[in-house]
Amino acid sequence: MNCRLSIREDIHWIGVNDRETTLFENYWPLEKGVAYNSYLINDEKIAILDTVKFNKTTEYLEKIKEIIGDRKVDYLIVNHMEPDHSGSMLALLGAYPDMKIVGNKKTFPFIEGFYGITKNYYEVGDGESLDLGKHKLTFYLTPMVHWPETMMTFDETSGVLFSMDAFGGFGALDGGIFDDELNYDFYEDETRRYYSNIVAKYSPMVQRSLKKLAGLDIKMIAPTHGPIWRSNPSKIIDLYDKWSRFEADHGVVIVYGSMYGNTAKMADYLARIIAENGVKNVKVFDASKTHSSYILSEIWKYKAVVIGSCAYNTKVFSSVETVLAKLGNSGLKDRYISVFGNKSWSGGGVSGIEAFVSEIGWEKIGPSIEATYSPKDVEFEALNALGKEIADRLNNEYDK
Ligand code: FEO
Repeated sequence: MNCRLSIREDIHWIGVNDRETTLFENYWPLEKGVAYNSYLINDEKIAILDTVKFNKTTEYLEKIKEIIGDRKVDYLIVNHMEPDHSGSMLALLGAYPDMKIVGNKKTFPFIEGFYGITKNYYEVGDGESLDLGKHKLTFYLTPMVHWPETMMTFDETSGVLFSMDAFGGFGALDGGIFDDELNYDFYEDETRRYYSNIVAKYSPMVQRSLKKLAGLDIKMIAPTHGPIWRSNPSKIIDLYDKWSRFEADHGVVIVYGSMYGNTAKMADYLARIIAENGVKNVKVFDASKTHSSYILSEIWKYKAVVIGSCAYNTKVFSSVETVLAKLGNSGLKDRYISVFGNKSWSGGGVSGIEAFVSEIGWEKIGPSIEATYSPKDVEFEALNALGKEIADRLNNEYDK
């Protein structure tokens, strides 16, 4: 028998945990799994908000049956069509053939395109409402957070905002489903990782949506991934505001690619100098060991970034290239950047990073430092000066 989990009187969490899938969107690591959250409002009319990925359909349909017995689902509200949320739609419609599928005009081409469903459409517009009996749902279109059709549903009766991907994070829900039932710090980190990996490119649209939602009396936020934010929903809203305005904390992320340890040695030396000069948050990543997913998340958190690479066939080292490509595509602004690296003959690592710096337009701190063969005193002296300059800039900008 499944656990019934009510998030508020007659609103049930009918989500599932996925600990088998190793990569989200077949790219982003899921070391601690992911939850696909779906919700059921058991009113005079029964509404379900979003479904779950196709690999969990059987478990999902059982959960619904356990709550509603022989009653029928009246509405499926489709806040987002990415298949991690729409993957059980066809099966749900098969189980409840009279169910109306609620979406906006951009939703239905996705439904037909992915699943061939062309019937039972129930179109809603921005600010329109649907009465279920006690519950009155109002729809807010939030295009490009994360796809063109995305919208949020606000339950005027309970104050629950069904926010789809927004405010959601990686990490299966290990027992607790509410923010006050679990390790908040872990899920906050995983929410920032989800933001920086999945939603970040659309930060200007996130800002627009936050303004649209600002007047609502939100008592709880129920996203499609990660915990339900009930203890203090404004905290995660403030973090989303911060992330989508590209605000950062006092700290430095050093990312490097190194074949035989010479660039790594420069990274460690620089990290030591920065720490000696009063920066406590110094994060050093070997881009060949740590997936770009985690590096991106840390860069989203901290103000200064230092990129180091050996030369590899006259280019930036491949694992560093991946980080740069992801960063460039993320739309992140307002970071400081510094450059270092190593070559043995023709170079190409440092100059490749410099090309990235010109393209992304972040403020560069200090000169690029490139060692030949292995770093010598002259490069360590230059790294010493660079580390002090980075630390001074941050210390002057932030309260220590
Ligand atoms: Fe969780 Fe954009 O899908």
